[in-house]
Amino acid sequence: MNELIPEQFPRIEGERVRLRAIVPSDAAAVLSLYGDKDANRFGYSPKMDSLEDALELIADIHELARKRTLFHCGVADRATDELIGHTTLFNIAAEHRRGEIGYSMHRRRWRQGLATEAVRLFVGYAFEQCGLRRLEADADPRNTASLRLLEKLGFQREGYLRERWELAGEIQDGVLFGLLKRDFVSP
Ligand SMILES: CC(C)(COP(=O)(O)OP(=O)(O)OC[C@H]1O[C@@H](n2cnc3c(N)ncnc32)[C@H](O)[C@@H]1OP(=O)(O)O)[C@@H](O)C(=O)NCCC(=O)NCCS
Repeated sequence: MNELIPEQFPRIEGERVRLRAIVPSDAAAVLSLYGDKDANRFGYSPKMDSLEDALELIADIHELARKRTLFHCGVADRATDELIGHTTLFNIAAEHRRGEIGYSMHRRRWRQGLATEAVRLFVGYAFEQCGLRRLEADADPRNTASLRLLEKLGFQREGYLRERWELAGEIQDGVLFGLLKRDFVSP
């Protein structure tokens, strides 16, 4: 049991986004978000071909939170509550108070600053509420949007990991980023 992972999903209000639990009524949005294989070329890409796959993923998300091994939080449009993305905390090493983050945003919402806002809220939550003191992220060197987002939040490039991944038949490098709690400027 990893006590740094909360069992309850938070509800955190930002200016334009809300972090909240992903629930079964989000299934169509989950299918649209994760079913876009091209958009998720450099990111998390579970099997996602039908509403059944979406419902299965949602059930898995809750099961993993219950087991406290992975914390997959929804990002909703604050005005409509439509699910538009996710932010995730995983690879938690509780004894070191360290974890890794991942995120994605629906393609229709790209380049509006929404992912930056959501990940900033999530990072603040991880540091302030989960008691973490170091966060890591691993981004493909070609994923300009992700590199820029991390640097805007204060993450520092700490390493270049050659041929770290094999995703959809493609070998990919990874840029390892790290952010310390004391270097993070809260929203
Ligand atoms: C990475 C991702 C979440 C960024 O979402 P977003 O909502 O477009 O991000 P933001 O609007 O907050 O933009 C963040 C920064 O990246 C820049 N950016 C976004 N898309 C860009 C692009 N295609 N080319 C260059 N810069 C880009 C933005 O201009 C902004 O920088 P700025 O404030 O200096 O202008 C989104 O591209 C995505 O979901 N990608 C697929 C999943 C993924 O790769 N996840 C990350 C795995 S490590």
